[in-house]
Amino acid sequence: MGQSQRRGLPRAGGPSQGAGERRVCRTEVRAKPAADGAGREGEEGEGVPDLPVESHLPSRPFLQSFFVDLATSGPMVLDVLQRIKAEQDPSLSYRRSCREGICGSCAMNIDGLNNLACLKPIDNDASRPSMITPPSHVRRQGPRPGNGREYRQSPAERKKLDGLYECILCACCSGACPEYWWNPESFLGPATLLQAYRWVSDSRDEYTAERLQALTEDRDKLHRCRRVGNCTANCPKSLDPEKAIETMKQEHLYPSFLRPLHSTLSV
Ligand code: SF4
Ligand code: SF4
Ligand code: FES
Repeated sequence: MGQSQRRGLPRAGGPSQGAGERRVCRTEVRAKPAADGAGREGEEGEGVPDLPVESHLPSRPFLQSFFVDLATSGPMVLDVLQRIKAEQDPSLSYRRSCREGICGSCAMNIDGLNNLACLKPIDNDASRPSMITPPSHVRRQGPRPGNGREYRQSPAERKKLDGLYECILCACCSGACPEYWWNPESFLGPATLLQAYRWVSDSRDEYTAERLQALTEDRDKLHRCRRVGNCTANCPKSLDPEKAIETMKQEHLYPSFLRPLHSTLSV
C-alpha cells in the first residue's frame, strides 16, 4: 500500500509520548470507518483495514492525539500544527495565511477559547493535552457538496473573481467617492460594495438572491452610485469598484437575458 493511501491513519502502533514531548489534541477532519459508519472519539486506529483513501472520508469529526517535542518546535500553536502536518499527518487540514495575526484565517478553538493559532503560544505545561478544535457555528456546516469533497468551479467561473478578491479593504476608494462623502449613512460606498460583489459573483455561493435583496432593500445602499469613477481612479490595487457596482445594479434591475443588451447600450 502506498504512502498516499495511509493518509489520515495513525502510525503503526499509534502515537507514543516520549521524554520532553508534549501531547497536542485536535479534531480529525477524516473519520476512520467504524462498524456503525460513525467516527469515534479517542480511537487509536488499530485494526483499521487498508482501504483506498476515499474510504476514509469523514462521516463525523473525531479527536486524535499527537505528541510533539516542544523543545524543537516554534512557540505558537500554528507552528505546532505545521510541524504535525509536515512530519506526522499530511492530511491534517486547517486554514492559515499571513502568520502575523492579520488575516484571521487561523481562527480556531484552543483550550476552550477562540483565538488565532499564529498568535497563541502553545501551552508549555506537558502534564495536560492542548485541545484544538474548529470554532463551532462559524464555518459552513450544512450539506456537503455533490461529490462530498469540494465545491467545484469552472475556470470561467473562477475568472470572474479576478479583480475582486485582491481588495485589501484600505478604503482609498470610499474616501475618494463624492457620494460617500455626503451620504455615508445610506450609501454603502465602493469598498463595501466591491466586497459584496466578490460574493454575489461567486458561483459557489448559495445566497446570491438574498445578498442582492439585502443590498437593494433601500435603493441608496447600491443605486446611489453615480458612476463618477473616482473610486477606480484612486484604488492602489488597480481594481475597478465602479464596474463591480454597475454590474450589481444590472443584476438587480435586469433579467439575465437582457443584461448583455443593456451593457452594450449603456456604455
Ligand atoms: S481602494 Fe481598491 S483595494 Fe482599497 S478598498 Fe477600495 S477596491 Fe479595495
Ligand atoms: S463610481 Fe460610484 S462608488 Fe465610485 S466614486 Fe463614483 S459614485 Fe462613488
Ligand atoms: S494566519 Fe493570518 S491571522 Fe493567523
